[in-house]
Amino acid sequence: MSQATKISNPWDNIATNYDSEIISPLLHATHNPLWGDINKIKAKATKTVADLGAGTGNLMPYLLPKFKKIYAIDAGAKMVELMKEKRSRLKSAEKSKVKIYKKKLENLKGLENSFDLAISINSLLMPEYKNIKKSLLQIKNSLRKGGRFILVVPSMEAISQAYRWIYERELKLCGKRAKAITLANKNIEFERIHFGLGEYDTSDMIQKYFSRFEIETLLAETGFTVKSYDRVVYDGEITFLYNDPKPKSPNMWDHYLNCSVQ
Ligand SMILES: C[S@@+](CC[C@H](N)C(=O)[O-])C[C@H]1O[C@@H](n2cnc3c(N)ncnc32)[C@H](O)[C@@H]1O
Repeated sequence: MSQATKISNPWDNIATNYDSEIISPLLHATHNPLWGDINKIKAKATKTVADLGAGTGNLMPYLLPKFKKIYAIDAGAKMVELMKEKRSRLKSAEKSKVKIYKKKLENLKGLENSFDLAISINSLLMPEYKNIKKSLLQIKNSLRKGGRFILVVPSMEAISQAYRWIYERELKLCGKRAKAITLANKNIEFERIHFGLGEYDTSDMIQKYFSRFEIETLLAETGFTVKSYDRVVYDGEITFLYNDPKPKSPNMWDHYLNCSVQ
């Protein structure tokens, strides 16, 4: 699909089948520091949390019993519709705790100084740095004094590791550098990845992948301090497309950053 014909919110296309199509830190992780970090937050029953880029609202059931108020925000109309359906099935006491907004992270106008905790799970994926920085600044402004920001983003290092893994494996098998590179390129779908910019073209959209240094730099540039770094590790291996038999490969992982405001 050409850049010109790409639709405005391609996430809406997969909203209905989201849980089966997307590898999610909420559904498929063997290690996710989010749960421990949420448990450590004191006086949660007095606090307001925002799920930014909330998708179909899979985080909502975890936040509901713990926090005073939950804001679920997403730019996708279909995502918002599905979240509202989920909310409508809640008991009335819980229902009144959940606010749902269709908004872009780049424009959180009206939500300044509103949250004690903001969580973005694989929603800061926009390809242009100016949009990433704009979103981070908006998120910072939406946090109250002493607020925290928990961020999960796709990892470019995970892709590089996968590349190395398949390259070394093929080199061992055939002994030829050029052949090993060709196979690694095919497996990693080299033509879809921009290694310089850290972007992956899914055909429907371009998604940003970050190096740890890159996301930490962007956070520092927009006024956040990274208090702890970890990884979300998935139970699934990285899928290699062109190998028979399918090789055992390393597990996929994302960056996990728990930040305060400077
Ligand atoms: C990979 S999904 C993650 C959904 C959810 N956080 C989860 O983990 O289940 C990415 C979500 O971010 C939303 N999104 C992408 N760009 C956005 C933006 N600029 N502003 C708000 N939401 C955005 C998409 O509509 C989609 O629902």
